[in-house]
Amino acid sequence: KLHTGRANLVFGVGNPDADLMFVGEAPGQAEDREGVPFVGRAGQLLTKIIESIGLKRDDVYIANVIKCRPPDNRNPEPDEVRTCEPFLFAQIDVIQPRVVVALGSFAVRTLLREDRTPISKARGRVYNYRGAKLIPTFHPAFLLRSPNRKRDVWEDMKKVREILRGE
Ligand code: URA
Repeated sequence: KLHTGRANLVFGVGNPDADLMFVGEAPGQAEDREGVPFVGRAGQLLTKIIESIGLKRDDVYIANVIKCRPPDNRNPEPDEVRTCEPFLFAQIDVIQPRVVVALGSFAVRTLLREDRTPISKARGRVYNYRGAKLIPTFHPAFLLRSPNRKRDVWEDMKKVREILRGE
């Protein structure tokens, strides 16, 4: 039902052969305007996070659980997740990344099908997911509000780098 209010569908962007894929929540205003995920303030921080392990945005693939912007950036509703998630699962199956970074509780809960796990509990662990390693970490929009948690994200990204290097 979200397609009626959006300007653009925000499907995903990046390298279809990527070893590393990021999954966020839903497009915001800037993403809706441009049709590209993570181009607003949180997106600029995500770009820095990607670059922190020596990669560029073009090297990775970036997508969201929800493909159309929820009105006023409200939280996505369960039927909206059910409608959009098959597209995300198909994206993961086509790209076959070695590592999936789930950004924030919403992505973690959708991918791992765990309804209650807060991101603070889920992160710091590596999960097996659809043939990939799944690393939960904080959402960059949360980091904009709580910059003291950037250190945790750096730890998670070092783990990502290790796995990609085969260490
Ligand atoms: N937040 C998200 O979860 N996804 C985007 O694309 C932008 C902001």
